[in-house]
Amino acid sequence: MASSTIYEATCSAPVNIAVIKYWGKRDTSLILPTNDSLSVTLDQDHLRSVTTARADPSFSSPPERLWLNGVEEEIKSQGRMRTCIDEMRKLRKGLEDKDDKLPKLSTYGLRICSENNFPTAAGLASSASGFAALIYTLASLYELQPAVSTSHLSRIARQGSGSACRSLFGGFVAWQGGETTDGSDSLAVEVAPQEHWSELQALICVVSDAKKGTPSTAGMQRTVATSPLLQHRIREVVPARMKDISQAIKARDFNRFAEITMADSNNFHATCLDTSPPIFYMNDVSRAIVQLVEEVNRASEEAGKGKIVAYTYDAGPNAVLYAPKENVSLVLGLIRHYFPNADFDDTFNLLSSGANASHRGAN
Ligand code: DP6
Repeated sequence: MASSTIYEATCSAPVNIAVIKYWGKRDTSLILPTNDSLSVTLDQDHLRSVTTARADPSFSSPPERLWLNGVEEEIKSQGRMRTCIDEMRKLRKGLEDKDDKLPKLSTYGLRICSENNFPTAAGLASSASGFAALIYTLASLYELQPAVSTSHLSRIARQGSGSACRSLFGGFVAWQGGETTDGSDSLAVEVAPQEHWSELQALICVVSDAKKGTPSTAGMQRTVATSPLLQHRIREVVPARMKDISQAIKARDFNRFAEITMADSNNFHATCLDTSPPIFYMNDVSRAIVQLVEEVNRASEEAGKGKIVAYTYDAGPNAVLYAPKENVSLVLGLIRHYFPNADFDDTFNLLSSGANASHRGAN
């Protein structure tokens, strides 16, 4: 008689925004970075990917199928999705080999469905939350935890998209780039939980929701191949900043956190400009927001107070602003005052998100 047990799991994972940027791979197939990075995981209420996976012995031809935001996507034989599924299966097989009573889910086909609660085209980090949700959902379906640690899972998420490894944790997360050639030490670790500094808020200014010109995967390898400045960033700039920003986070020192975050965003975009041919991610509005933030901070510091807000930009024109909760209404007021242009109203959305814990698994 056929078994009536349904093996299904649904989990969600949040977006993370780096304050020390990952830009460059030393191994493009294992996704091993040229430098460490550090991010803040955002609140799942606003930006998240939700993934459901079901395993069933009747799923065949092909054994795996995947739908992203309602559209079926091909799982390419040499692709990142394939690698992630195969690696998760291997972990399940390892448990089954040790325990005869476990159902042989590693031999079943899979149906996977994933949705974002934000537009994929908005230039926000959908691959990070998407791959993190996939890995966490398969870990839940295959009942891998606690035998397999979250950092171990992050090594697999990393092979989906580098930044995804950081979305398996909430709060403040470092991706330790590692030194080995097999990637066994290239994984994410928690620097501090969200509760440690819950007054820190993130505001996302969607300057443009057009799809970005140079995708990060291609852009970063062009930088690796052509930018002398990147070598300085890898050797000198990032190692010192990783230490300094971790200390600033531990001490909840917003001034120092803001200083390093903005400097690192600028250094990253400088390496993009140093790439041949150059890559431009920020536009005039992005730069106007930088000027506004610098001006506001200067005025506050002249009045004997600390910085009010920090900006950071990923591979696109949208600004992510970090500010202590007490400064958020002032920052929102300033943004609305200086960017009242009616043309912006459709595309210039502001979401306020507290950094928040990472994931929730459900069967
Ligand atoms: C600028 O993680 O999207 O957002 O590993 O090729 O998938 P792949 O790249 P991805 O790159 C993110 C780059 C960044 C900086 C960061 O998130 O650290």
